[in-house]
Amino acid sequence: MRILSGIQPSGVLHIGNYFGMMRPAIALQSRGEAFYFIADYHALTSLHDPDALREHSRHVAIDFLACGLDPERAALFRQSDVPQVTELAWILGTVTPMSRLELAHSFKDKTARGVAASAGLFTYPVLMAADILIYDSDVVPVGKDQKQHIEITRDIATRINETFGSRKQPVFKLPEAQIHAATETVPGIDGQKMSKSYGNTIDIFGEEKETRKRVMSIVTDSRAVEAPKDPANSTIVQLYSLFATEAETAAMRESFRAGGTGYGEYKKQLFDKLWEFFAPMRQRRQEIISDASYVDNVLANGAERANAIADQVMSRVRAAVGLR
Ligand code: ADP
Ligand code: TRP
Repeated sequence: MRILSGIQPSGVLHIGNYFGMMRPAIALQSRGEAFYFIADYHALTSLHDPDALREHSRHVAIDFLACGLDPERAALFRQSDVPQVTELAWILGTVTPMSRLELAHSFKDKTARGVAASAGLFTYPVLMAADILIYDSDVVPVGKDQKQHIEITRDIATRINETFGSRKQPVFKLPEAQIHAATETVPGIDGQKMSKSYGNTIDIFGEEKETRKRVMSIVTDSRAVEAPKDPANSTIVQLYSLFATEAETAAMRESFRAGGTGYGEYKKQLFDKLWEFFAPMRQRRQEIISDASYVDNVLANGAERANAIADQVMSRVRAAVGLR
């Protein structure tokens, strides 16, 4: 089984990225051949600051390793270290209907939020399809917001197979998304989906003071301390359940219903759990940062492994479409 996923270095990683994509990806690394990359070409659709792009790319690598990515098992690399993927995106674009891209939520959401509607942003799902198909991927662990992109990928692969392949010899495998219901959309401090671009994140490796401040500013209703509270729609409970045991979460729910405890107290409990949860990863991160060449070596090795597969697949694709 080949597993693949990518994450954009468009900012600092948050706990939505961790539970939605990084933890599932790390859990899969021992179940097959895993390829995880830093989607720097994709980040260029929203970030035009070269120093920031370099800095974020490096930190995504460091943070992913600190969270448990094992480079002996999973190949970790930069998307741009496999430039053939842009060639494949071009080929895929020639069979992709405009109308399919016009329906993509992510383009509509991003432009609605003020990201410039560039041709690159519009064709973003085609590059993502190339990312997935160039490694003959079987499984793609992601959060729910990426579901439609995987559907578009399957659609494009089917069109290529129908146009250039045969039933006996399809050009591409059809990949499957892997999305876990419990963590598919982690809420941010405002209760909306946590996202780098909404300013509502709690970062994985934020400073202690800042992290506490973010947790304490989670939006709640204005129920008094004594009043019973609704655990079902509470961002605090939802986030707490990511870090606490089932019994601990059940106890918090019960306490909500009973009343007598203020939201501030629950937020403190959440902060303590969260801070403790990431403690071993913070320590590992310090070790990684102190070894200057470690990350460079990991990325170089990952790029080599990724290129070996991408070269094979591209030879097959070029032959299938008649470029060779
Ligand atoms: P962001 O929305 O913060 O820019 P990305 O688009 O870079 O995050 O997402 C990287 C990965 O993390 C994707 O697989 C995405 O589905 C997942 N992800 C991002 N935010 C969340 C969230 N709030 N809940 C669950 N998964 C998420
Ligand atoms: N679009 C994804 C995101 O914003 C990142 C990404 C790019 C990706 N290429 C991919 C994820 C291929 C999975 C597979 O999160």
